[in-house]
Amino acid sequence: MAGASREAASDLGIFLREGKARVDRALGDWLAAEPGIPDGLRAAMTYSVAAGGKRIRPLLCLLVAEGLGAVGEGVLRAACAFELLHTYSLIHDDLPALDNDDLRRGRPTSHKVFGEATAILAGDALQTLAFAWLAGAAGSPGSPSRPGSPSVPSSPSSPSSPSSPSIPSSQSRPGSPSSGRSAPAPVPHSGSGLPSERVLEAVRVFAAATGPAGMVGGQLLDLAAAGRAVTLDDLRAIHRGKTGALLAAAVEVGAVLAGAAGPERARLRLYGEELGLLFQIVDDILDVVGEAEALGKTPGKDARQGKATYPAVVGLDEARRLAREAHARAVAAARGLPRPLPLLVAMADYLLTRTS
Ligand code: IPE
Ligand code: IPE
Ligand code: MG
Ligand code: MG
Ligand code: MG
Repeated sequence: MAGASREAASDLGIFLREGKARVDRALGDWLAAEPGIPDGLRAAMTYSVAAGGKRIRPLLCLLVAEGLGAVGEGVLRAACAFELLHTYSLIHDDLPALDNDDLRRGRPTSHKVFGEATAILAGDALQTLAFAWLAGAAGSPGSPSRPGSPSVPSSPSSPSSPSSPSIPSSQSRPGSPSSGRSAPAPVPHSGSGLPSERVLEAVRVFAAATGPAGMVGGQLLDLAAAGRAVTLDDLRAIHRGKTGALLAAAVEVGAVLAGAAGPERARLRLYGEELGLLFQIVDDILDVVGEAEALGKTPGKDARQGKATYPAVVGLDEARRLAREAHARAVAAARGLPRPLPLLVAMADYLLTRTS
């Protein structure tokens, strides 16, 4: 099953731990520094963002962008935009009108604590703030969300001054297949953000993935399929929309920010799509076999609500086999990259075997 070397698996462990700390700190500092948010709304936004989570989407974006040579605080800000967007989607997913969940990230859900109206608005606010942060990765003057703007704390501990590249060295280890190639030119960085044409393209990818033909459309299909017989093709379309689209966009935006194009970008996109499908098949499996404490959410709800899931449609064993197939396709895509990123294979292994 495992596709990555022991060394890459260990490097991924370091990257996940250090990257999550970087993302958590940036999210906390930058959200606290956003001006003009009414207290009641800020409390609800912060409650869900600070509740934690694995931070897989920003980590994927960072892994690809930094692994391909993009540097600077704009990359971190773009990565964090994915977590804001994802957190909005969780708040809305848990609402009584959708999945009606009481527990998320080990805490009572937003609507349980703040009421439905505030939870809806906190989700709306995180969604639009995500676009502001992504656009702000270009560092256009005058933007309140501009990296390095006066509203962002600039203490030495601030994430606005990331101290060192955080991709473990195996991403371009001497002796790896990449040696001998010239290193990718780093994105020009003067502390003012990424090239605006790359950021504009990233916004396009982000909007397409999160909108009606992506995540939101997938959520509608998920709700419409509950209690009905669905085919495997239907199910794949639901999962690719509601979950796969955002994960694929995290990978593709990382590529775009680093200036990747053509077959390299397309291959990374394919990797992200397969990873996204894998992610949701495993989410479905964990709803059957997982523990509330590890998951931070209530297991067994999919069956109780008649949700269209892989275990419901094809059974647990076949769901596991289809997860392994998606993993194999993701690994094949990663292995075909012109500039190798060994942590992508290790990431696919981790997402296949995760228990939370
Ligand atoms: C849960 O996502 C919702 C899905 C799209 C399946 P995660 O499993 O990434 O949740 P957190 O962010 O770690 O809490
Ligand atoms: C959630 O899928 C997808 C989005 C939030 C867009 P699920 O409904 O399966 O996620 P969980 O199991 O509640 O985390
Ligand atoms: Mg749902
Ligand atoms: Mg749900
Ligand atoms: Mg689920």
